[in-house]
Amino acid sequence: MGTIPQTNLRPLLRATSRDWRANLRRLFKRSHFILGEELRAFEVEFAAALGGKFSVGVANGTAAIELCLRDAGVTSGEVLTSALTAPFSGVGIRASGATPKFADIDPETLQIDARDTASRITSKTRALMPVHLYGQPCALDQFVKLARKHKIPLIQDAAQAHGARFDGKPLAAFSRYVAYSFYPTKNLGCLGDGGGIITDNAATRDRFLVLRDGGRQGDQIAHSFGVNSRLDELQCCFLRAFLPHLNGWNAHRGRIAAIYDEELRECPGVKLVKRTEGSVHHLYVIRAERRNALRECLAAQGIGTAIHYPVPLHQHPAFAQKGSLPHAEQAVKEIVSLPLWPYLKESSARRVARQIRRFYGRK
Ligand SMILES: Cc1ncc(COP(=O)(O)O)c(C=O)c1O
Repeated sequence: MGTIPQTNLRPLLRATSRDWRANLRRLFKRSHFILGEELRAFEVEFAAALGGKFSVGVANGTAAIELCLRDAGVTSGEVLTSALTAPFSGVGIRASGATPKFADIDPETLQIDARDTASRITSKTRALMPVHLYGQPCALDQFVKLARKHKIPLIQDAAQAHGARFDGKPLAAFSRYVAYSFYPTKNLGCLGDGGGIITDNAATRDRFLVLRDGGRQGDQIAHSFGVNSRLDELQCCFLRAFLPHLNGWNAHRGRIAAIYDEELRECPGVKLVKRTEGSVHHLYVIRAERRNALRECLAAQGIGTAIHYPVPLHQHPAFAQKGSLPHAEQAVKEIVSLPLWPYLKESSARRVARQIRRFYGRK
């Protein structure tokens, strides 16, 4: 029996190789590697594919968060985000000059809890940054209301949620700032670091173009304090080849998720994480009793798993926040991400589920 890694880029690279090779040939012929035609074309294509008006390519998802906050005027004070997310959510907030503060999660969905977030808003809170964790939209309607009530900006960390929709609408319909990562394993990734911002506001887009390029306006003058955060032409060659497949790949992820749901729903020792409409299934996460032993047993069968994430952010030395966030603290002891990627065979997902059922003593 072959191995089943938790994630795997090879099939996706094979399936798109003609397109990215053609893009690379064009790029090498032009030999213009920064802020060129591939990026300009990708920005138009990415915004259109995700139902937003404008997109701006930046160096990575962390920078996308930083630049959204800076553009919103948030360079001090506190920004509230989820305790259960990649550390880079906090790193992006810190890079803007603000301090990340963390709210607990809903134990059913593992998404940031809007009620807990509301209870933590103080006079120091300058912005809200909910995360659409594992590809699933958080309760955006509630966050929009909260942000309006407190007259603070809403930045969406959509690093894991390319193509996700809330209430049938694209994420860009809910706030001016939506930040994406193109880290290789994301639903839309490149082959290195990359990130993007989607906004429906033309003036905001224009400011991002200056901000990401050192404050330059197509000249050699730093008109304002910018950063160097540009999405490379090389990476756009891959992103443009992958983007037409995004919906199909997301649908495949959805089919695999449905198989895991079906196979594991009744399995003792396993609790499924509740998902809502509009998820793009970036990761398939279950809560498992004796989680570490389960992982070892799966590894012995050649099945890879991962933990997203092992420590909630309020307990990271860099972000330490006093007080307990009990749902996030409990979740990190139980969560495990099962194999999931475009082109993963349905029979492989069933084999993974079968091994899990066996571990818990079920056929
Ligand atoms: C939820 C979340 N936010 C932010 C980031 C940061 O993205 P990047 O790694 O592209 O900087 C990531 C990915 O690492 C992420 O998963």
